[in-house]
Amino acid sequence: MDQVLTASAPSLPPSDTALGAPTAMRAPVATLQMRSILAGIGGYLPERIVTNDELAATLDTSDAWIQERTGIRQRHIAGPHETCAFMATEAARIALADAGAVPADVDVIILATATPDQAFPATALRVQAALGCGGYGFDLSAACSGFVYALSMADSLIRSGAVRGALVIGAEVYSRILDWTDRGTCVLFGDGAGAVFLRAGPGSGSADDQGILSTHLHAQGSQGDILFVDGAVGRPDLSGVLKMQGREVFRHAVNRLSETVSEALAANGLAQDAVDWLVPHQANLRIIDGIGRKLGLPPERVVVTVDRHANTSAASIPLALAEAWHDKRIRRGQLVLMEALGGGLTWGSALVRM
Ligand code: ACO
Repeated sequence: MDQVLTASAPSLPPSDTALGAPTAMRAPVATLQMRSILAGIGGYLPERIVTNDELAATLDTSDAWIQERTGIRQRHIAGPHETCAFMATEAARIALADAGAVPADVDVIILATATPDQAFPATALRVQAALGCGGYGFDLSAACSGFVYALSMADSLIRSGAVRGALVIGAEVYSRILDWTDRGTCVLFGDGAGAVFLRAGPGSGSADDQGILSTHLHAQGSQGDILFVDGAVGRPDLSGVLKMQGREVFRHAVNRLSETVSEALAANGLAQDAVDWLVPHQANLRIIDGIGRKLGLPPERVVVTVDRHANTSAASIPLALAEAWHDKRIRRGQLVLMEALGGGLTWGSALVRM
């Protein structure tokens, strides 16, 4: 059964009846509600780049096959010092500096990853220590949808008034969980980290507000075996590598992501031409192009990094966002739609006015 959580649809103003006074005698109702402003964005990519041709030197594949089926030309692969925590910390430092924020402004760190450095402590707390933040933090596991899930959790905490500053990070070292002899999977992924710093700000509850307008999350555990990692701590009997039924994942991605972008727009009463930018999870150029076409967006309004980063799972959206933010394609006031699907299955969207 599909599990649906609408984390933050716009709230309605209180009804006249509830207020108990004649409408004519009252000033217009201004509904104040907290919004999560994307105050700063950062990304980190490992120094080492591996091209398709380099993979083809040891694997029965080719640059032409990989580019034609996926759009991927190269990926970044972490060196020994580029741990999940290291890359996450570097991305977070850039996000904080971009926001003009200091570690004391961080009340919570939510780090989405499928490749933590250790079972515990949470990688989020290694980042907390490296940055010198207070507050609290935890890791979140939702595979490639992890960043959208983490953004939704942080947004809920800010809206509730529980926190005022949140670091949301997606960080992955998929190179550790790939079978480098399996051409069907190892060519698809890369390593990296992306981060946003969210700051509480005022909103009116309208789609014109700055900040996160809505998030929608879904999961379907019954599809868990089409994309999974065959491994766990203390299980040397398992292979520990990623397994995937590529065509099935592709089919679900196209269908579920189409639904979730429609859902995000409908929840906010917005037409598809209101979207300025699509910042999709970067798994496959053919999936990205399909969603862009569904939204009627010209390719120049779709942020694409899969050609250079490959699929960095939970890091892919914040890395793409960081690139288009720092090169000044995405600007304040513009409407950005993010969407992702990943192992679980998990999927979801976030609609944000920058
Ligand atoms: N190089 C050369 N040939 C390959 C390679 C490769 N790297 N990988 C597979 N092949 C071969 C297969 O062995 C098969 O050969 P055969 O016909 O002799 O048996 C042939 O290519 C076709 O294989 P398919 O798996 O059917 O190829 P398909 O067109 O479906 O493309 C792909 C595979 C790229 C994985 C595609 O299914 C896909 O992108 N799926 C989505 C998966 C995805 O994005 N996963 C990421 C995680 S989930 C997410 O982030 C959304």
